[in-house]
Amino acid sequence: MTPQKPDASQYRRLGDSIATLTQQALLKNVVQAVTDSGFSYAIRYCNVHAVALTSALAGTGQVLSIQRLSDKNRNPDNRITEAADQSAFAYLQSGGADTLIFREGEAVYYKSIKIMMPTCLKCHGSDADLDASVAEVLKEKYPGDLARNYRMGDLRGMWKIVMKTES
Ligand code: HEC
Repeated sequence: MTPQKPDASQYRRLGDSIATLTQQALLKNVVQAVTDSGFSYAIRYCNVHAVALTSALAGTGQVLSIQRLSDKNRNPDNRITEAADQSAFAYLQSGGADTLIFREGEAVYYKSIKIMMPTCLKCHGSDADLDASVAEVLKEKYPGDLARNYRMGDLRGMWKIVMKTES
């Protein structure tokens, strides 16, 4: 008997909604932190670990991991290293919006992350975009920071959502 081929569109939808929900929660936290105490304070909130996944999706146990990866990463943990991740990113660089692959017992969804609002540039732009206090905190917290000098519309990185395909 051949195993049933998992339904790609189902995992694509699930991956996409997880990426969207996480992005929304992240952005809400960052904007709130900026409003409360400014950009240099908000630096600690642009981080997927700072987002509690309260949605029903997290409770199903189907979502194994949520990451944001980049070729020019700020946090060393977010660097693209695996071959599959590299080819997914190359596809997104060539203009693809998202992609899904299957591997042993898992579906992996990738989706592009673009610099689509000026707020992003306050922490990922050029020296002229950044407040001096932001530059200072970033230098201290992320000495190997590569995530600078982006412009509006640039591809900043990608979501990588790993989901279980078997119960
Ligand atoms: C207040 C400063 C700040 C703002 C505003 C901000 N970021 Fe970030 N960003 C960071 C920090 C700090 C990290 C590293 C987080 C960590 O340690 O995981 C980061 C990491 C990331 C990463 C993960 C890859 C990496 O470089 O480590 C992506 C993708 C990203 N940011 C995209 C964005 C986008 C898109 C926006 C605008 C919607 C944005 N950021 C706005 C500070 C910011």
